[in-house]
Amino acid sequence: MQQQQQHDIHEEKILILDFGSQYTQLIARRVREHKVYCEIHPYNLSLERIQAFRPQGVILSGGPSSTYGSSAPHVDKGVFELNIPILGICYGMQEIAEQLGGTVGHSEQREFGMASLNSLTDDPLWAGLDFPEQVWMSHGDKVLSMPEGFSAIGETENAAIAAFSNPQRKAWGLQFHPEVVHTTPGRQVLKNFLYSICDCHGLWNMHSFIETTIAEVRAQVGSGKVILGLSGGVDSSVAAMLLHKAIGDQLTCIFVNNGVLRQSEAEDVQEMYGRHFNMDLRYVDASQSFLKLLAGVTDPEKKRKIIGNEFIRVFEDEAHSIEGVDFLAQGTLYPDVIESVSFKGPSAVIKSHHNVGGLPEHMKLKLVEPLRELFKDEVREVGRELGLPSEVVDRQPFPGPGLAIRVIGEITEARLHILRQADAIFIEEIRNAGLYNEIWQAFAVLIPVKTVGVMGDERTYEKVIALRAVNSVDGMTADWVRMPYDLLGRIANRIINEVRGVNRVVYDISSKPPGTIEWE
Ligand code: XMP
Repeated sequence: MQQQQQHDIHEEKILILDFGSQYTQLIARRVREHKVYCEIHPYNLSLERIQAFRPQGVILSGGPSSTYGSSAPHVDKGVFELNIPILGICYGMQEIAEQLGGTVGHSEQREFGMASLNSLTDDPLWAGLDFPEQVWMSHGDKVLSMPEGFSAIGETENAAIAAFSNPQRKAWGLQFHPEVVHTTPGRQVLKNFLYSICDCHGLWNMHSFIETTIAEVRAQVGSGKVILGLSGGVDSSVAAMLLHKAIGDQLTCIFVNNGVLRQSEAEDVQEMYGRHFNMDLRYVDASQSFLKLLAGVTDPEKKRKIIGNEFIRVFEDEAHSIEGVDFLAQGTLYPDVIESVSFKGPSAVIKSHHNVGGLPEHMKLKLVEPLRELFKDEVREVGRELGLPSEVVDRQPFPGPGLAIRVIGEITEARLHILRQADAIFIEEIRNAGLYNEIWQAFAVLIPVKTVGVMGDERTYEKVIALRAVNSVDGMTADWVRMPYDLLGRIANRIINEVRGVNRVVYDISSKPPGTIEWE
C-alpha cells in the first residue's frame, strides 16, 4: 500500500536542468502548478543520473552565458539520444541548437521585455493559443540557423526563429520565457508540453503528498522518538502537524522563548499546539539567558551568532531531558536543498541567516525532513489540508533572531517592550484593513535615536519607530508597499498615543536592493 502511494505521486517527473537563470525556480513552480512533480538539478548532471531519475520530460533552463563561449555550460549530449521529450527555454533553446549542429550568435537587436509572437505552423505546443500572443523575452543571443530536422514554429519581429521543434527528436525550443507571468500563453504552453508531449496526467497534489509522506515517515521512524524545534512559523508548524498526524506522541516539539519574540507569541504558540492540537509541546523559557548574552551587544552579526548558538545549547539541553530520542525533524524546504548554480542570492552572504532548528551535529540524531520536496506555496496548501488556521499558514516570515535585529543597537527589556507594542499596533491595523495577506512582511523597528516633540503643553524627547512593509516573491528582492496614507496616519497616531516612550513614527520607503528587508 505504502509503495503503491509513493509510486503514484512520483510516477511522472520532469527534470529541470539549470543553466543559472534567475527564473529556474519559477519554471519548477509552474510545472508543479500543473500537478506534475519536478526537480531542479545542475546542467552537468551525469547521463547516468539523468537516466536513473527516469523523467517524463526534460526542461533546459535559461542562463546568463553564451552557448558559443569557451567556458559555456553544456549538458551531456547523450540526453538528446534518450528519446525523452526536451524543452529548451532561452539559453536552453540555444543549447539544443548548438549541440545538434545549428548556430547561435549575438543578436543585433537584443530583445528585453514584451514581444508579439506569431505561429509559423501548427504544433502541439501551440494547442489552444490565439496568435498573435504576447511573450516575454530576455536575451542577447539567438538561434541563427537550426540543426537538421528542426523547423521554426514561431517568430517575433526581432527573432525569425523565436520557437522551433523537431517532433521526431522530441525536441522543442522557446526563445521566450513561458514561466513568467508576462507571457500570456505561458501556462498553456507549459501545459501542452507536460500533458500532450510528455504524456503526464497530473498526479502531484497535496492530498496524496500528505498520505505518501505519512507512510514514509512511519516507515522511517518506526517506533523511534522524534524532536522538532517549533518556532510557530509556517514551515515548522506544518512539519509538526504532518509528523503529529503520522506518529502522534512519538513526536515532541520544543518551543524556545529566546526573549526576542513578538507580543504574546509564546502564549499563542502554546495555546495553539499544546491545547488546540494536543501535541506534546515542551515550552522552554530561556529569555533571561538569551538577554543576558545579548546585553551590550550592538553588532548585528554578533547578535545573530549569539542567538544561533544559544538556541542550539538550550534545544540540546531540553532534548537530553527526553529519553531515547533518535530523530531530529526539520521544516527544510525544497529551495534550501536545490543543488544548483543559481539561487545563491546575495543575502546569504550579506547576513548570516541562522534558522531556528539548526542541527547540532554532535547530537548524532537522524534527520526527518518531511517538507524537503516542497515549495513554500505547497507547504501552505499542506497546512490548510491538515487543518491549520490561516493565522498560521498565511503567516508572514519572521527571522530567527527575532526582534533582536529590529531593536537597532543595544537590546534591553525596556526597548523590546516599546517595540512589541508598536509592532502589535502596526500588525493589528494592517489586519483590520484587510492587507495582511497582501503584504510579504510588515514590522516595526526601534531606532536608537531621540527626537524632540510636543505632547499637550509638554516638550518631549523620545524614541523613533520606523515602520517597514515590503512586497517580495522570495525575499531576494523587495519593494516597499504603497500603504494608504490614511492607514499610515492612523497607525502613527495610535503608536504615538498608546506606546509610552515614542513620539515619532517614520515609514521606510527603501527597496531591496539597495536596502535589505531587515534593518540589521
Ligand atoms: P534581508 O534583511 O536579508 O532579509 O533582506 C531577507 C529575508 O530573510 C529574513 N532574515 C532572516 N531570517 N535569520 C532568519 O531566519 C536571519 O538572521 C535573518 N535575517 C533576515 C528577513 O526577515 C526576510 O524575510
